[in-house]
Amino acid sequence: MIKVENLSKKYPDKNALDDISVTFPAEETTAIVGPSGSGKSTLLHSLNLLERPTSGRLIVDELDLNLDKTLTKAQVLDVRKHFGMVFQEKALFTHLTVLKNLTEGPTKVKKISQDQALEKAHALLKQFNMEELANRYPYQLSGGQQQRVAILRALAMEPQYLLLDEPTSALDPELEAQVLRVLRELAQKETSMIIVTHNMAFAQQVADKIVFIDNGHVGYDGKTEDFFNSNDPRIKQFLGAMTF
Ligand SMILES: Nc1ncnc2c1ncn2[C@@H]1O[C@H](COP(=O)(O)OP(=O)(O)O)[C@@H](O)[C@H]1O
Ligand SMILES: [Mg+2]
Repeated sequence: MIKVENLSKKYPDKNALDDISVTFPAEETTAIVGPSGSGKSTLLHSLNLLERPTSGRLIVDELDLNLDKTLTKAQVLDVRKHFGMVFQEKALFTHLTVLKNLTEGPTKVKKISQDQALEKAHALLKQFNMEELANRYPYQLSGGQQQRVAILRALAMEPQYLLLDEPTSALDPELEAQVLRVLRELAQKETSMIIVTHNMAFAQQVADKIVFIDNGHVGYDGKTEDFFNSNDPRIKQFLGAMTF
């Protein structure tokens, strides 16, 4: 389980997150939704300390950090070990084949043997019907294929939590659907995922819980179904703005 308590992130001219408290359960999919510029990425990146919060408390499984103090390198690394991350786009190693992209982290960072890493990589590719891509380079893949490989690369590290920041926002609808299918399959396998998304149909269908971030505050934190049936005027306004 991940928990943030009284988390704030202040930029010189902006409070990106203002004293927020949220829990992200393990083995569930949490969708972070909200308007552009509301603080979604800041929250997501605060969990693995890609972004350093200004104050608050961060709990990641057995770790419990006081963010008011300067963190040590070791503390940051301990937190990072729990996470895999998928960005919006262009995150693969361009000079490595798909297979090498999948084995690089496990062999270099986790010191797993080349054979074992290869075995795992092939198993992942097989699981998601992507074996024919194994020897291609990223430039030989469509955007949707690249994003699916990026997801598998994160999974190859066997992280406790998978963080995804709008992983399909750079894709055409058809390619987006391919990626969302992979994520739905992961969600069904009780992968612990936290995903920032603008795709409300996906959030409604796949997420166990919704965190609605609105101007640096938590506008909703609870069950997916209750969010989409909410009578809260601000939530209704937001959901209304997302459809036409
Ligand atoms: N490095 C930064 N310096 C200053 N302001 C920033 C920085 N990063 C983000 N912000 C501001 O913080 C707010 C939240 O940003 P962000 O978390 O990226 O929003 P979202 O992901 O919901 O679109 C925005 O107003 C944004 O302009
Ligand atoms: Mg963002």
